[in-house]
Amino acid sequence: MKVDFDFTKIFDFVAKTKEELASFLSFRITSKKCLGIDIGTSSIRIIELSRQGERKKLENYGEMQASCIYKDSFRTFDKNTLLFSNQNVAKAIKAIIEESKMTSHKAIFSIPDFSSFFTNFELPVMTEEELPQAIKYEAKRHIPLPLAEVTLDWQVINNQSVGGNQTSKILLVAVPNEIINQYRNIAQMAGLELFALEAEVFGLLRSLIQTTKDTIALVDIGAQTSTCSIIDKGVLKNSHSFDLSGNELTDIISKSLSVDYETADRLKEKNGLLFDQPVGLHQEKQIRDILLPFIDAILKEIDKICKDFYKVEKRSVKKIVLAGASALLPGLEEYCRNYFKGEVEIVDPFYNIFYPPVLEKKMKKMGPAYAIAVGMALRGLD
Ligand SMILES: Nc1ncnc2c1ncn2[C@@H]1O[C@H](COP(=O)(O)OP(=O)(O)OP(=O)(O)O)[C@@H](O)[C@H]1O
Ligand SMILES: [Mg+2]
Repeated sequence: MKVDFDFTKIFDFVAKTKEELASFLSFRITSKKCLGIDIGTSSIRIIELSRQGERKKLENYGEMQASCIYKDSFRTFDKNTLLFSNQNVAKAIKAIIEESKMTSHKAIFSIPDFSSFFTNFELPVMTEEELPQAIKYEAKRHIPLPLAEVTLDWQVINNQSVGGNQTSKILLVAVPNEIINQYRNIAQMAGLELFALEAEVFGLLRSLIQTTKDTIALVDIGAQTSTCSIIDKGVLKNSHSFDLSGNELTDIISKSLSVDYETADRLKEKNGLLFDQPVGLHQEKQIRDILLPFIDAILKEIDKICKDFYKVEKRSVKKIVLAGASALLPGLEEYCRNYFKGEVEIVDPFYNIFYPPVLEKKMKKMGPAYAIAVGMALRGLD
């Protein structure tokens, strides 16, 4: 099922004081130590970072699998309710913080991309005082929801000259108030101060090694959802989510080989797409053959998003950056390289962060799964 910011899926909202809610989406935060929290379908992940001058340091990290406390996933984003059990999530967060001995109480939570709405547009250059009113006015034309039901946040991306007129490019994010209230409750129950909320994709973007002038596709392959975002000259241009992801790969192995889910998961993580002809084991080839049609379906979707972007903007995607724990599927990076005949890499969000060298191998492996949480925590240090 395709999601693409489908706001028809978002249910009734409870409007709260907009100013109160807007404060949670503030772009300006100055904390020395901060938690980044990513509530995913399969796991909750928390990163604690600190900053002294320019030096950013990993203090702690921790995660809890959904299966530890739930039969189902943390998020019940089966597109029906968008709600999850706040209490269980809060308990899990508390447990991770205690277990990992995190000391910061300031937290930034990521909001799933498909519950945020992004758009960008241009406005004539104006003063900071004039901007909020103009943005709200323009937002009505872009957001398919009553403004009373969403909280808006925006960034001025750049000022440019178009046909002799000076314009500002605005990136606008709208999040349903209901979602914001839900995260606020979770933070409160977990004893945390909610510093900010931010769409997942911005966390990912922040955790990229360097901003590049090129066009890149940032692909998060998670448990339930994959999201492909096009970043052009460091700016998010569009983002599409689709329900074809890691758990489906496990499901298909489980069904095809008649093995239980845990065994299928193990086989997937061990073999993935690897097959060393001619010495490869029979089972390796079997698993690769089972997975390939599904991997191809994911890559086809990504390819389409890249091509659609080219049709509109006449800029072709130069690099694909893989994130999400499924990016670790053995052989996937190489397979993508051949499929797209171009540059493919796995995100390394810890690149600019200091941590004990002995953890290097571990951090490389954790990178794709923790990229969103790292990006959230980094925002808290800006
Ligand atoms: N080493 C690995 N190789 C292949 N797949 C893996 C590996 N480690 C984890 N996965 C898969 O990654 C998926 C979980 O990804 P991730 O933790 O990014 O998802 P999530 O953020 O919880 O979910 P979502 O983003 O869909 O809400 C699961 O399907 C899991 O089986
Ligand atoms: Mg995720």
